[in-house]
Amino acid sequence: MIFYFTGTGNSLYIAKRLGELTKDKIFSIAEIMAGKPMPEYNGSVGLVFPTYAWVPPQMVLDFVAKYLVDDIYFYAVASCAGSCGNLMQYIEKSANRPLDAAFSVAMPNNDIIIGNVESEEQIQEKLANATNRVEKIAQVINERKTGVYDVSVGSYPSFKSGFIAPIYHKYASSTKPFYAQDTCTACGQCTNFYSITF
Ligand SMILES: Cc1cc2nc3c(=O)[nH]c(=O)nc-3n(C[C@H](O)[C@H](O)[C@H](O)COP(=O)(O)O)c2cc1C
Repeated sequence: MIFYFTGTGNSLYIAKRLGELTKDKIFSIAEIMAGKPMPEYNGSVGLVFPTYAWVPPQMVLDFVAKYLVDDIYFYAVASCAGSCGNLMQYIEKSANRPLDAAFSVAMPNNDIIIGNVESEEQIQEKLANATNRVEKIAQVINERKTGVYDVSVGSYPSFKSGFIAPIYHKYASSTKPFYAQDTCTACGQCTNFYSITF
């Protein structure tokens, strides 16, 4: 089973494609955290989520800490614009166990605070590469390979994930200007000022 969290659809795209290629079902972390029943585990647990300032979204960490069990093949795929820092360490810390396999997939950037707005050409190139990459990731998962760490960490990962991330999330992640429409899943995240637990 694959649990995904998505802000603008990149991670949802990866989760859907991975689900097709691994013949697995996908579930929304936001919906489960909002009260939808947690499905019974079978076979493996995969997480797909975006990178938010070199750490995972707080809701993903909360989900992992609340629900993840020990004795199951466990992998994670972070979608990012280019570099993820040490974010997988935060998943492992919340799960209290190592990942069997960890990957990143470069996708179009949706961070308008510190990121660049990419050209249409760059976006199309990233999407084409991502499609191939997800196929390779699915192959590793289908073979249940362990000890795989194929993540684009980038430069100064400890500094970015450990030092910049808490500052970024404290001062640049306020949800105050946002409001809900009918498509809201009632996850509650928009009404909470989520602070990252380090
Ligand atoms: C608040 C915020 C912070 C981000 N921080 C990073 C980052 O540290 N590294 C990176 O490569 N991409 C970063 N991104 C880009 C997203 O991780 C990337 O576009 C991702 O594919 C978005 O997935 P989604 O559409 O499922 O939300 C950030 C995006 C947002 C909104």
